[in-house]
Amino acid sequence: MKTRKLGNSDLHITPIGLGTFAMGSTGWHASWGPQKDSDSIDTIKRAVESGINWIDTAPIYGLNHAEEVVGKALKEMSPRPIIATKCSRTWDEEGNIIPNLKRTSIRSEVEGSLKRLKVDAIDLYQIHWPFPDEDIEEGWSAVAELIAEGKVRYGGVSNFSIDQLKRAQSIHPVASLQTPYSMIRRKLEKDLLPYCEVNGIGILAYSPMQKGLLTGKITLERMAGLPENDHRRMDPNFTEPRLAIHLDLVNKLETLAADIGVTCAQLSIAWALRNPAVTSAIVGSRQPEQMKETIKAGDIALSTETLNAVAEYLREHRENLQGVLG
Ligand SMILES: NC(=O)c1ccc[n+]([C@@H]2O[C@H](COP(=O)([O-])OP(=O)(O)OC[C@H]3O[C@@H](n4cnc5c(N)ncnc54)[C@H](OP(=O)(O)O)[C@@H]3O)[C@@H](O)[C@H]2O)c1
Repeated sequence: MKTRKLGNSDLHITPIGLGTFAMGSTGWHASWGPQKDSDSIDTIKRAVESGINWIDTAPIYGLNHAEEVVGKALKEMSPRPIIATKCSRTWDEEGNIIPNLKRTSIRSEVEGSLKRLKVDAIDLYQIHWPFPDEDIEEGWSAVAELIAEGKVRYGGVSNFSIDQLKRAQSIHPVASLQTPYSMIRRKLEKDLLPYCEVNGIGILAYSPMQKGLLTGKITLERMAGLPENDHRRMDPNFTEPRLAIHLDLVNKLETLAADIGVTCAQLSIAWALRNPAVTSAIVGSRQPEQMKETIKAGDIALSTETLNAVAEYLREHRENLQGVLG
């Protein structure tokens, strides 16, 4: 996979990055159900051996657990991949989220991440969510301070609007925006993606397979057997009335994917990467075999004919959703 320059930074990253959300395992509000650390570590190793050069994580994934797992995997790697982690989602003793963009909190968070990841500096440090809104300037100034001190190489943000990006940019350059982008999450195509493209902000597209929905592996049977603590049970995209409409789309995508010799997961990721504003897709994985499949999407260029077919399916899908949701 050819690397791409991330926004205005000097980071050159592969078009596929490994996402570690599900590696947080259980014991927190957005768990993906049980996940063995040994599987996570094997997945990280497989990803890096196969050519992926960057990993996205966050302290909130499993309340520090995902970062600890990434740190264990990194110990055996030289050179290590580029590491992106996040700040601003803190929690209390019961695990309730406390959004915090105060300077002292971010300075304390970065020390914890450096220790868990066992690195001297974090390559990309991202504000996870823009909350509380009134503290964005304080939080972003703290990230700029950490860059000046060498604890962090570049700063990025996540889930920010254009207005929030502008506020951050007036203080310090924003290297990247991490934002959800998939065939069924496209509103940002109109304004946010073009804004970032013009302003040298790299886009890291998260949940490109819509949390696994666009792989073809989510079925009604799979949903019925999903562990109680897999948060997707409560996700409106994984429950009716939306689920049936999404599954109808996935059926069509699976046939199209088979016709062009790829899998539905690869088609979904390659579709997100076709947008010139997108630098890299963050692809979540919990098993080496999943990674083996999805990494190939980084080298797939979809033909105009395929893109037109997808566009037609997405138009029908939007109409079907509107018919049900109004
Ligand atoms: N900044 C933010 O607020 C934010 C929010 C969400 C995500 N992210 C980042 O983006 C990353 C990716 O997003 P995501 O994990 O939400 O969603 P995703 O990449 O769309 O989906 C990942 C899930 O799909 C399933 N999967 C993966 N490969 C598969 C394959 N080959 N065949 C079948 N199923 C497969 C796995 O779950 P199952 O096997 O259990 O189905 C996996 O956990 C995260 O890990 C995280 O690093 C950031």
